[in-house]
Amino acid sequence: MWESLWLDARLATMVPGNVPYGAIEDGAIAVERGRIAWIGRRADLPGSPETLAEEVWRSRNRWITPGLVDCHTHIVYGGDRAHEFELRLKGASYEEIARAGGGIRSTVAATREASDDVLYESARRRLADLQAEGVTTVEIKSGYGLDRETEARMLRVARRLGQDLPLTVSTTYLGAHALPPEFEGRADAFIEFLCHDSLPSAASEGLVDAVDAFCDRIGFTTVQTRKMFEAARGLGLPVKLHAEQLSDQDGAALAASYGALSADHLEHLSEAGARAMAKAGTVAVLLPGAFYFIRETRLPPVDLLRREGVRIALATDCNPGTSPMTSLLLVLNMAATLFRLTPEEALAGVTREGAAALGLGRERGTLEVGKAADFVLWNIARPAELAYRIGGNPAAQVVKDGQALWPELRT
Ligand code: NIG
Ligand code: FE
Repeated sequence: MWESLWLDARLATMVPGNVPYGAIEDGAIAVERGRIAWIGRRADLPGSPETLAEEVWRSRNRWITPGLVDCHTHIVYGGDRAHEFELRLKGASYEEIARAGGGIRSTVAATREASDDVLYESARRRLADLQAEGVTTVEIKSGYGLDRETEARMLRVARRLGQDLPLTVSTTYLGAHALPPEFEGRADAFIEFLCHDSLPSAASEGLVDAVDAFCDRIGFTTVQTRKMFEAARGLGLPVKLHAEQLSDQDGAALAASYGALSADHLEHLSEAGARAMAKAGTVAVLLPGAFYFIRETRLPPVDLLRREGVRIALATDCNPGTSPMTSLLLVLNMAATLFRLTPEEALAGVTREGAAALGLGRERGTLEVGKAADFVLWNIARPAELAYRIGGNPAAQVVKDGQALWPELRT
């Protein structure tokens, strides 16, 4: 007997094929030990529901999608940057503020000062916003510590959140995010320190699922990024990259040459970069919240990505400097409105493709037998509504690893 069975559902399985959204009308999902044990049309169920499962839920014609995946966040940090927001409204640019020692570095100072409990609690609150909208998997980066201990503290907090909350947390080491004051003028020495000290030490504690870097004019060069990738390779860790956000550095092609899981941002991506990504299967993670918030005017080359067959994921980039946002549904709307993604591409971007960008595509991201039973019931008439709305939260129930998180369906 199955543990639970969900009936009267319209399923957006997000399994690729000829049917939009991989939809199954009048569908059913059976759950056993946290996984999807059966999925299909109700008419094809091998018996009457009460004889098949201990617990039967009726979705009352709601749509069910895979649990949402936010595959790029910096959600653990100290302080905020509302003051810089004010400066920017008086005319300063993101880059000018960063060069004057603000930006990422001001969050580094606040994060170093914050206790583990303060980091944990502030991140938990932001995660609660995401979870309320159906997020069941989230990536969390370090990168506001920059010294060995604070980088490790951020990642420990991320791991603890993953243990305490009904959320799959994937951690990413982002030591090469900015140059800390103690290494001023010594960027190469900082990279050496990350490669030979900070990263191996975090990895040996089991804190690192992937390694990322910020390759840009105000970040690190491709030569320095390559060193980070070599260190990651030596430790057997997959890589990803903040690439082509403010300028084209050929970072995406470099990442692809290391078989990167993803290259993220990509407003300035070249054709050669897109081709290299397609060849390597590197997912493009687009971050419309950051595009919007720093008032970027150059659009990521979505048509080029489509033409080359690069998979497109979407994420909040939740961080205090360029994307202080905790709504993945708003990201769907922004991706459609600003980047012209179709609602189906946008939903795939926060399910199937988001999971792929974390190397979790076999486990999560679509509704298929054997995958984790992470799914969301929605009070919507058609899946496009998820990208269409601005504000409001149509989530009726979130199921994480087979467990319904709320006592009853919300209306
Ligand atoms: O993804 N670009 C670099 N990193 C972040 C911004 C971090 C910050 O400003 O604090 C981003 O946009
Ligand atoms: Fe980022």
